[in-house]
Amino acid sequence: MNQASEIPAAAKRPSKRMLRALAGETLQSPPVWLMRQAGRYLPEYRALRAKAKGFLDLCYTPDFAVEVTLQPIRRFGFDAAILFSDILVVPHALGQQVWFEEGHGPRLEALEQADDLARLSKEGLHAALAPVYETIRRLGRELPAETTLIGFAGAPWTVASYMLEGGSSKDFATGKRWAYATPEALQSLIDLLVEATGDYLIAQVDAGAEVVQIFDSWAGVWPERHLRRWCLEPTKALVGRIRAERPGVPVIVFPRGAGVLYQTYAAECGADALGLDTTVPLGWAREVLQPKACLQGNLDPQLLVAGGQALRQGVADILEQLAAGPFVFNLGHGIVPETPPEHVAEMLAEIRAWRG
Ligand code: CP3
Repeated sequence: MNQASEIPAAAKRPSKRMLRALAGETLQSPPVWLMRQAGRYLPEYRALRAKAKGFLDLCYTPDFAVEVTLQPIRRFGFDAAILFSDILVVPHALGQQVWFEEGHGPRLEALEQADDLARLSKEGLHAALAPVYETIRRLGRELPAETTLIGFAGAPWTVASYMLEGGSSKDFATGKRWAYATPEALQSLIDLLVEATGDYLIAQVDAGAEVVQIFDSWAGVWPERHLRRWCLEPTKALVGRIRAERPGVPVIVFPRGAGVLYQTYAAECGADALGLDTTVPLGWAREVLQPKACLQGNLDPQLLVAGGQALRQGVADILEQLAAGPFVFNLGHGIVPETPPEHVAEMLAEIRAWRG
């Protein structure tokens, strides 16, 4: 199948493994990184977290954020490091109160009506996010030469959902009420987020991010018409802006839960790679999506908790189906805190031993 081990797709070949895969090359064993690879499953993260005043303090203190970004790279040698931060720094930088409560996840001072949007402003955006840019600049100096640095942001809808609900949600009732009853109000929030997120991602690239990933964790809650309007269109606008203003910087889009509309993302959103959630069928992804984009994913994070034969089988299924084309191994969603770090090491050994 994969006889000529490494097939260059572009004349100008990047040298880092992650960048080669994103440029359309098929590598003999695929590059690998994991969403939430820095975090509570690592004892060294928990130790540093205990020293910080809170989670946002960790994100906004370059000494901490650089160290936490590097922890999983030192331990496992992933092909890419993802900036340590959170998608909710954008609402925070727009002037909304954001805090993290132990055991509760994120809390925000919810936007209750269209008038509340007037409290948000892009004016202080770069000043508030300056420590994140500093973290990226330092990482550019401190990461191993072969490691790719990924910047990221939440997609406008996913970020808006937290801003409207005041935190995590089960039914997205407020966001949907805005979409269905006062769409012009949701549209102005989404438009603000498209602009602010675009500014933020471009500043990340200028600070040294080599790739950017857009997380639309809650794309999968909409009827088709609304997924197109609130998720696909804003994401397309962001990808288009990065393409136009910083050409050559690869973009990964993760529209979690998009189902068969992954096909629409592959055709229309303009991303270099699509992040697949755990439920996307592998054979379908290979046939329908991989001819159009590099794919990234999609091991069930719970297989990494379980370990053993179930984990080996899950890894082999993915490699058999997707590693014969442009592919980046990852999870289908973020790693969970219960994950034994030894299972990550076992997973990596399986992937690195893979020879098509
Ligand atoms: O991937 C990485 O290692 C980089 C850092 C990163 C974090 N959050 C750190 C984090 C990234 C890329 C994110 C993205 C993020 N944040 C998303 C999109 C991806 C996804 O998981 O769906 C979302 C929806 C958020 C919002 C958020 N941040 C939630 C819902 C929570 C609480 C849930 C949880 O896991 O605790 C957070 C907190 C958070 N973000 C933690 C970390 C390491 C845990 C905070 C802690 O240490 O107490």
